[in-house]
Amino acid sequence: MDSLEVNKAIAAVLVAGIAYMAATIISDGLVNPTELKKSAIQVEVPTTAAEGPAKAPETPLPVLLASADEKAGESYAHKVCAACHTFGEGQPAGVGPNLYGVLGAPHGHMAGYDYSSALKDKKGPWTYDALNEWLTKPSAYAPGTKMTFAGISSAKERANVIAYLRTLSKSPEPLPAVPASAPAAAPAAAPAAAAAAAPAAPPIGPMIAAAQPAEGEKLVQKYCAVCHSFNKGGKPVVGPNLWGVVGAPHGHEAGFDYSAGLKAKQGPWTYDELNEWLTNPAKYAPGTRMAFPGLRKETERAAVIAYLRTLSDNPEPLPAK
Ligand code: HEC
Ligand code: HEC
Repeated sequence: MDSLEVNKAIAAVLVAGIAYMAATIISDGLVNPTELKKSAIQVEVPTTAAEGPAKAPETPLPVLLASADEKAGESYAHKVCAACHTFGEGQPAGVGPNLYGVLGAPHGHMAGYDYSSALKDKKGPWTYDALNEWLTKPSAYAPGTKMTFAGISSAKERANVIAYLRTLSKSPEPLPAVPASAPAAAPAAAPAAAAAAAPAAPPIGPMIAAAQPAEGEKLVQKYCAVCHSFNKGGKPVVGPNLWGVVGAPHGHEAGFDYSAGLKAKQGPWTYDELNEWLTNPAKYAPGTRMAFPGLRKETERAAVIAYLRTLSDNPEPLPAK
């Protein structure tokens, strides 16, 4: 390559560079006005801002639902929503559609009811999140809806109402899993079910005997402490206090409102039963209110149970190694 060609090459690079810079400057010039338009649209912010706190409650919906009061939701619905809705199976529509079985059903779920196109255009089933958004402000969720109802501003009240709607079914949907456990445990839900289905897994007893309670305590702080307290005489949170649970009867805390699924279980919490429960609570006690997908790893369950065992003045003997 002679020097002239080198110069040409350098020039070409420079020209390309300048062209690129020019293009950037021009497109910046072109893009800015649109950006201005965008922010002009966002001047509507006050409404969204006002909705902000209601739309983003501090407590995530699954946690609220896990502790929701169906009875309070029922009386709210029968006072407020009943002006327009019926709730019993097979009842006719009022001003609004009958709501039996609405959770998990497609939007516009009542055959023959004349829904607005705003609602008919919504795809997919009524999930917990969708119902929560809808009941926050129907006109924001489905602009043009016929449901002339302002919305429920309290996240807790909405959770109560949704928990009540959930009961309007022969086989209520499972409660959503709590996000605190989601990152680690949610992908584990399927394998956990598989593990529970395979009784060939090594027995948990020796693993509990070999486990470190301190490891279990760390896991418990991470996964369970959102809903449980562990100290002697501690107050229930979303779930019961767990002091002394190993070896105690199922539903061991007097006065705690356990689900029928858990109350139906007889006898004490053995190591094996705790292991099965913590593998997949919804499978062990269908209808349970413990919205936790389960711990996939047997070693983790063993450590957690070894820790739970220590929560006693008089711990149960360890299983044989
Ligand atoms: C003023 C009357 C009115 C009140 C009050 C009202 N709704 Fe509605 N609701 C309607 C109407 C009308 C529709 C149909 C909306 C459409 O087609 O856009 C509807 C639709 C719904 C749907 C969708 C049903 C489906 O099949 O997709 C749900 C869920 C719902 N309402 C729940 C509630 C709850 C819960 C309350 C009380 C907190 C409530 N509504 C209060 C009139 C009302
Ligand atoms: C989202 C809240 C939540 C999380 C997270 C949670 N639990 Fe629970 N737990 C509950 C609720 C609610 C109950 C009562 C269940 C029922 O009545 O069906 C319960 C019940 C129990 C029971 C039965 C207690 C008794 O008295 O019979 C045990 C044991 C238990 N949980 C252990 C754990 C452990 C260990 C973890 C963590 C690995 C955990 N839970 C995570 C909410 C939770």
